[in-house]
Amino acid sequence: MSQETAVYTHGHHESVLRSHTWRTALNSAAYLLGSGTIKQDMKILDIGCGPGTITADLAALVPEGLVVGADYAESVVEQARATAAERGLENTEFTTADVHALQWEDDTFDVVHAHQVLQHVGDPVQALREMRRVTKPGGIVAARDSDYSAFSWFPQLPGMDYWQDLYRRVARANGGEPDAGRFLKSWAMRAGFAREDVTCSAGTWCYAAPDEIAWWSGLWADRTVAPAYADRATEGGHATPEQLTTVSETWREWGTHDDAWFTVLHGEILARK
Ligand SMILES: C[S@@+](CC[C@H](N)C(=O)[O-])C[C@H]1O[C@@H](n2cnc3c(N)ncnc32)[C@H](O)[C@@H]1O
Repeated sequence: MSQETAVYTHGHHESVLRSHTWRTALNSAAYLLGSGTIKQDMKILDIGCGPGTITADLAALVPEGLVVGADYAESVVEQARATAAERGLENTEFTTADVHALQWEDDTFDVVHAHQVLQHVGDPVQALREMRRVTKPGGIVAARDSDYSAFSWFPQLPGMDYWQDLYRRVARANGGEPDAGRFLKSWAMRAGFAREDVTCSAGTWCYAAPDEIAWWSGLWADRTVAPAYADRATEGGHATPEQLTTVSETWREWGTHDDAWFTVLHGEILARK
């Protein structure tokens, strides 16, 4: 399945970007930073860069190099460009691209990075094949994706189980794989990486402080009834508008609990070409 047939489940509503712009290289790519891979003069591709906050952090790590941020959505490419400009970064470039058919020549980048992208594409093996193709021999493909089935939370409100099940059904109907984290190693091997060249790890986000609970519950309450997701859920026959409102209210209720806790599990791979 190509980009034309896979649909980005969340869309780029403000409530979605509220989550993306919180991300940093430290909270979202520590497995790459800690690997000692990145050198000051490297050329990095951040594919599916979204609004570019991770991209900008990566650029700060390669002051003598270059980071290219690319995304198939023109609107977020513009936002990513603005993020880099606001930070005064001069070693970034931004463009539109489809990870299934990248426009760069073979062996162009030292590192090709994708955060929370492969779960949304129609053919993640082809995507990894392309990411590998544009990586220099000896270079690294770094990918991290969440695993929705493995999320955990407290309190276990009954409506939260419904939210998880519904989200996974909508994401799959859109051509994605919401449990992508656990698939990454297998996809990388199918894309041509030798098993011994794929280093795997798991990383988490944990939201339990008062501001984190308010932020996480608010953005899910909002994005559940926001255009992209709500339209896809209702038009696909997965939920009625009333059911989506109930899910949104459940998220708000979850956010009222002082003892609330949410853990997001991710799979991570560093695959050497
Ligand atoms: C969950 S967001 C992640 C954004 C960013 N990497 C981050 O973590 O903040 C996924 C991004 O992948 C982009 N995307 C989805 N399918 C794509 C494709 N086939 N090629 C390139 N980008 C794609 C979406 O437009 C979206 O901006």
